[in-house]
Amino acid sequence: MSYEYALSNVWEKASERLSTLEATYDRTSFPRLDTLGIPLGGRCLEVGAGAGSVARHLADRVGPAGSVVATDIDVSLLTDLPPNVEVVEADISTAGFAAETFDVVHTRLVLNHVPARVAALRTLLGLVKVGGRVLLEEGDVFPTDAAGNELHGRVLAGLWAGLGARGADVRFGRELPRLLTETGMLDDIDVTCVVPVSEGGSPGAGFLLGSLTQVEELGPLTDVGDDDLRLWKQLIATPGRWFPGLGLYQVSGCRLASSRSRHSR
Ligand SMILES: C[S@@+](CC[C@H](N)C(=O)[O-])C[C@H]1O[C@@H](n2cnc3c(N)ncnc32)[C@H](O)[C@@H]1O
Repeated sequence: MSYEYALSNVWEKASERLSTLEATYDRTSFPRLDTLGIPLGGRCLEVGAGAGSVARHLADRVGPAGSVVATDIDVSLLTDLPPNVEVVEADISTAGFAAETFDVVHTRLVLNHVPARVAALRTLLGLVKVGGRVLLEEGDVFPTDAAGNELHGRVLAGLWAGLGARGADVRFGRELPRLLTETGMLDDIDVTCVVPVSEGGSPGAGFLLGSLTQVEELGPLTDVGDDDLRLWKQLIATPGRWFPGLGLYQVSGCRLASSRSRHSR
């Protein structure tokens, strides 16, 4: 691995954290993926596959005649997958998959963490067959930034700063539509954005708490007082309280032939 990923899958509670992530975002990612028209018998690439819920969904959509490559820098949580899923341990920045060989390429909350994220994005587009589809879903903290100086905003600002200090760009989601357009490699670009609002004690609240706990174990959160932290941890576990979470930009497009790029037409 070429860099230190702050929310490593080696963490003892990583499986639990990823299952809360999946419970929060699968219900919006799956229908969005389905609108792409995943071909039966097709070949898909799931990048930063985590605990594999999206790889499983893609495997179901392509059927037994199709295949899914699920890749991650740490594949230890990619278990019990269907036979048409191949697991490849690799850093997407250096993976070296053959160009233009996938019908669908997908990421969720991965490029946020990759230091060379803009270069990685171009690499990913190059892996899509001409006429194939890409869906990149990346996070943006605007919903909790909007909570400003309220307790939830203050505490999560400490989490985002902790991730930022370890190389993540927690506001990368908003950059994706422009960056993808500027590549000139895509047509039919479509952008949606989802903000989960989760009840205390629910999986969505658990995802925020798990992420904060993991980053806290790496070092104290800056500018977050102990009293604030204690109260927030109590509230985030309390049913009847509701919290905005990490926003998810969902940007899809259809791969153009190089000679037909948007800028050369
Ligand atoms: C926040 S988790 C998201 C997991 C999964 N995409 C999901 O949404 O359920 C980020 C995942 O990306 C992986 N990852 C981080 N940097 C990566 C890289 N450079 N190449 C491939 N995977 C990476 C991590 O190991 C982790 O499994």
